[in-house]
Amino acid sequence: MKVFGIIGSMNGINSREYQIIAKYFSAEKYKNADVKIITADQLNIKYCRGCCTCFNTGVCPLDSTDDMESIKKYLLEADLIIVSSPVYMHQVSGFMKNVLDRIAYWTHTFHLIGKRIVVCTSTSSSGSEYVISYLKKVMSALGGIVLGEIIVDDMTTIEEIEEKCKYINNMVSQSSVSLANISVSTFQHTLYKGLRSNLIEKEGYEHDYWLENNMFDYFTFKEYLLYRLNLYK
Ligand SMILES: Cc1cc2nc3c(=O)[nH]c(=O)nc-3n(C[C@H](O)[C@H](O)[C@H](O)COP(=O)(O)O)c2cc1C
Repeated sequence: MKVFGIIGSMNGINSREYQIIAKYFSAEKYKNADVKIITADQLNIKYCRGCCTCFNTGVCPLDSTDDMESIKKYLLEADLIIVSSPVYMHQVSGFMKNVLDRIAYWTHTFHLIGKRIVVCTSTSSSGSEYVISYLKKVMSALGGIVLGEIIVDDMTTIEEIEEKCKYINNMVSQSSVSLANISVSTFQHTLYKGLRSNLIEKEGYEHDYWLENNMFDYFTFKEYLLYRLNLYK
């Protein structure tokens, strides 16, 4: 199993998020899984320029000029993705927003279909609900199956963190045998249906991607998810 954690904090290994994720999502916890955790300070990610080349061609012209290519590789290879951001001004950090902007076009192709996702945030006291709800929404739009959330603030005790992470670790272990039984969200269902009817008539990269991946053969997100999960067996 491959685990990839991306942490939007410039505090790096000293960030509260890193300390928690490195401890509770380690290789030992997942029977010697291949675990990679990256923090914002280790990466150079440029702002999206808004050219929309990615939506039209599936290629971002900036990818060859910064670290986005390796982040995409880790995301695509992972079975479990942990997406974590500190609360900055009641939202995700600028770094995390940059990374997500750079894969916005994947929301039209569900590139992260069936990946198990855990979302996490750290805050002094406020704003965690916005960050968690945003991260859940975008990771679902990318096709991921959100298994749980970790919220830490200055008042959270070690016992609370331990209990939460134990619960999520349990969810992750269970999901490896029964992901097909996990219900998909209405949001994913609606998004898939809308994109399907829109893209089936259109020409271009997104249409071609759907065609090449047999997506037009599946009328619902759940059907497509089950098809993809079977392919990976
Ligand atoms: C630019 C900036 C904005 C912040 N905004 C908020 C905020 O809106 N609400 C809050 O409770 N804490 C806020 N904080 C505090 C961080 O969320 C808090 O320090 C967090 O635990 C940092 O996580 P880390 O240790 O993983 O980097 C802010 C911190 C910074 C640097």
